[in-house]
Amino acid sequence: MKKRVLSGIRATGRLHLGNYLGMVKGMLELQEKGEHELYFMVADVHAITTPFKVEELKHNRREVVIDYLAAGLDPGKSVVFLQADVAEHAELTFYLSSVMSIARMQHLPTFKEKVKQYPDQATMALLNYPILMAADILLYKSGLVPTGIDQEPHLEVAREIARRMNETYGIDFPEPVRFATAGEYVPSLTGEGKMSKTVEGSYINLTDDLEAIKAKLAKAPTDSGKSDSVPTEGGVESLLKFVELFEGKSRREEYERQYQGEGIRYGELKTELAKAIFAELSPIQERRKQLEADPAYVDRVIAEGAEKARKVARATVDEVKGKMGLK
Ligand code: TRP
Repeated sequence: MKKRVLSGIRATGRLHLGNYLGMVKGMLELQEKGEHELYFMVADVHAITTPFKVEELKHNRREVVIDYLAAGLDPGKSVVFLQADVAEHAELTFYLSSVMSIARMQHLPTFKEKVKQYPDQATMALLNYPILMAADILLYKSGLVPTGIDQEPHLEVAREIARRMNETYGIDFPEPVRFATAGEYVPSLTGEGKMSKTVEGSYINLTDDLEAIKAKLAKAPTDSGKSDSVPTEGGVESLLKFVELFEGKSRREEYERQYQGEGIRYGELKTELAKAIFAELSPIQERRKQLEADPAYVDRVIAEGAEKARKVARATVDEVKGKMGLK
């Protein structure tokens, strides 16, 4: 039997290049190899842990499914589903919460950051965010989780929960580890921090055309282009990272040699890079257009995905209930 692998993206908006490189591309590599059974989840329930608008959520959860499909997810090979369609996610979250202390959850850096961001809306749902994520993973007994570096604290919680559930109730949950992808850390175009939907000027959308990508790269900060040592952070490092991701490591090394020699001409670097990024995005954009024209197909994929996911999830919840004396 093939091992299952689950990953998810919060349904807070359309995918950007950071999500695509950090998670989707890693999952697509696994889909190509065909050694695992893949679950691409849209984390719509996670979206209610911070302030949200009903109509936007309703729209976004479907948009993420379309983005997954456009990026190359093949519903004949992998399962794509909406978290809220599989009630077992919420159900298992409650059972798992019985082995975690309030103090442990309150001390997570991700929780503290969100409390700072939304001081008046720090809800119980927010405190439960990592437990819901553990439930997502453990329902499918996924030992590998392709996701970004920033999710490491959440995976640590999932491992702790798995250990405690196994020790206390004799379950066989794997202790999930992060599956590192080439794009596990995608820098911001501003040269500071990571690419993020909430930081203006930091990201490229999967829907951006060549002109939009050029305009965004044009704003990325650079320097004189010539020095003895290549910068290890800031705008230049970000650009070189993108060169590496879209044009390969050897192209990056050529630029590094130029930097320490005759100097880099950033105008040319940016034009070439914009073309390389667009070459990867344009087939995704083409597929998206076809999917938008066929909503019935998308509905069918969503319904079938929910059914497949539910089967696995139900079996796990029944097992847990049985071992906990709830059945
Ligand atoms: N917390 C993840 C993020 O913000 C999204 C997510 C929810 C997830 N459930 C998951 C990722 C399960 C991997 C596995 O990126």
